[in-house]
Amino acid sequence: MLQLENVYKCFARGTSHETEALRGINLNIPKEDFVTVIGSNGAGKSTLLNIIAGTVLPDKGKVKIDGCEFSNKAEYFRARFIGRVFQDPLLGTAPSMTVEENLSLAMKRFGRGLHFGLNKQRRVFFQEKLARVELGLESMLSKKASSLSGGQRQVLTIMMATMFDPKILLLDEPTASLDPEISKKIQLITQEIIKERRLTTIMVTHNMQEALRYGNRTIMMDRGRIILDIAGKKRENISTDYLIKQFSKLRKEEFAEDKLMLA
Ligand SMILES: Nc1ncnc2c1ncn2[C@@H]1O[C@H](COP(=O)(O)OP(=O)(O)OP(=O)(O)O)[C@@H](O)[C@H]1O
Ligand SMILES: [Mg+2]
Repeated sequence: MLQLENVYKCFARGTSHETEALRGINLNIPKEDFVTVIGSNGAGKSTLLNIIAGTVLPDKGKVKIDGCEFSNKAEYFRARFIGRVFQDPLLGTAPSMTVEENLSLAMKRFGRGLHFGLNKQRRVFFQEKLARVELGLESMLSKKASSLSGGQRQVLTIMMATMFDPKILLLDEPTASLDPEISKKIQLITQEIIKERRLTTIMVTHNMQEALRYGNRTIMMDRGRIILDIAGKKRENISTDYLIKQFSKLRKEEFAEDKLMLA
């Protein structure tokens, strides 16, 4: 259902900062698949999500959702189909709007809400969703998003991104900036929602255990390429040690390449 065909993206081409962030990405993600993405800093993980969401347009290659080409469609157009959660809790919500206004906005974005005759009915719907996370958000509907804690704000973003069954859910290290306790709670509820709703999901993580524990497929990126793609039985039988070994192998290869260039 999501297809990336030979996607390339280079930033700041022709300058001293030129970076080939994606170099020939081919990826086919069937409906209801949940892919975890790992890779070192600068490997191209966030750029991959940005290309899918339309925040960044590819130089070359195609992005297709359900067979329709989206490659050059604007971000706002794709927002109807794509739920997104960023590493930074400040990015997912509008700070000067209340919790309820933010949720209503998500509702509109996904073209929902017409069956809610009354504001009261809608409020009860929101409260039920928020109560599930047990962070007290259900009694904060009229509070501005800017007054919430990082964890509460991230929960709000996750609710906004998943409430109306996006075609694709993109999670970019959603709990990396939160303290461990809240992080665990939010990760658990996120995983529950993904399972219940069978959402097609791509989640970037730096945590090797998370990468293997969640989802049904793991890809590893390095310098703009997908260098490992494991699923099924093979994935069930590998450990975090295996992934770490792959990383150190890469570093050795890079080191050898650098030496060659300097020689
Ligand atoms: N908008 C941009 N302008 C210029 N360079 C960019 C831009 N976005 C990303 N890059 C560069 O592209 C490369 C890939 O970046 P990307 O953010 O995709 O990496 P990442 O795998 O998400 O890394 P991290 O683990 O640090 O989040 C990096 O070298 C980064 O500096
Ligand atoms: Mg990133």
